[in-house]
Amino acid sequence: MGLRFIFMLTRNDKTVSDAMTQLQAALSLGVRHIGFKDVGLPVEDLKSLNQAIQNKGATSYLEVVSLDRDSEIASARAAVEIGVDILLGGTRVDDTLPVLAGSGLEYYPFPGRITGRPSVLEGTIEEIAASARDLVSREGVHGLDLLAYRSPDQDVPQLIKAVCEAAGKPVIVAGSIADKDRIEAVHLAGAAGFTIGTAALDGEYPAAGEGLEAQLTAILRDVADLNGHLSPFGKKGLDAAFGTFSETWSPRVAGQVNDMQIKLAKFQGAFTWHFHEREDEMFMVHRGRLLMRFRDREEVIDAGEFIVVPHGVEHCPVALTDICEVVLLEPATTVNTGTASDERRMEELESV
Ligand code: NI
Repeated sequence: MGLRFIFMLTRNDKTVSDAMTQLQAALSLGVRHIGFKDVGLPVEDLKSLNQAIQNKGATSYLEVVSLDRDSEIASARAAVEIGVDILLGGTRVDDTLPVLAGSGLEYYPFPGRITGRPSVLEGTIEEIAASARDLVSREGVHGLDLLAYRSPDQDVPQLIKAVCEAAGKPVIVAGSIADKDRIEAVHLAGAAGFTIGTAALDGEYPAAGEGLEAQLTAILRDVADLNGHLSPFGKKGLDAAFGTFSETWSPRVAGQVNDMQIKLAKFQGAFTWHFHEREDEMFMVHRGRLLMRFRDREEVIDAGEFIVVPHGVEHCPVALTDICEVVLLEPATTVNTGTASDERRMEELESV
């Protein structure tokens, strides 16, 4: 599973008053993990937020703020009443687990000793890792919420790494992340995810424009990049993409869908007869006309039409117009000339 970005609808440990508006913006951009706190809005409003998150198939989180026992128990009760998917934070596992029993909620408490407000994580790396090991051994604890950057005088990546290794369960790093370097450090250290709230709401994340949408777009782009997705969330125009190159018979990678690649190619004249042992290929004509020759017949594909050539079937594409622009969808392992060797064989493709 890739790194999880959890967008917190909170500022200074409180759920923001316009959380529903911010939530709609986040959901429309494709944010899949969204959290809030049980402080700042009435419980009925929090229920509406939770419902809106879950209706979109996203995962909801409630993070415990309070440091005293009674309010921590109250937060756990609120999490059950609201119906969130995951309860983040808190340190009183013995008091919280009975409240959560049978609710189906996942629970990610804080390892280590938490003091003060804003919270500080105290102890050495060894002590915090020992606390992590102890917590995850409890039935009903599904992961941990680590205040890594609230730990003074620590090597933070070392701390995250030690806690992830000790836990062997998902570790979410909460607090004080506001740029790609920190997200990358969290990712490399083995964490399952991280939260950003105030920094995005206040426009602190480096982004191309103003406002929350630009903030979330930048974070989603950076997370997609770290997760190794070739296609970040963002549209691509075919006219513009085809305009970036002029070489013929030289496919460019425009995106990736799991193991499949979307390639753009300009055809001119006839290609070479070939087939692919394993890969099926889709040819969709964007501009121009394409003739697909088979040994027993031919098909003409016009702009807006496509043809799928199954693996094992010999074929020879021919441009019927001077240049024919084609969108290909095929497994990333596909080589353009298949089993044939031709000077137009391309193994390393550029991206557009
Ligand atoms: Ni082919």
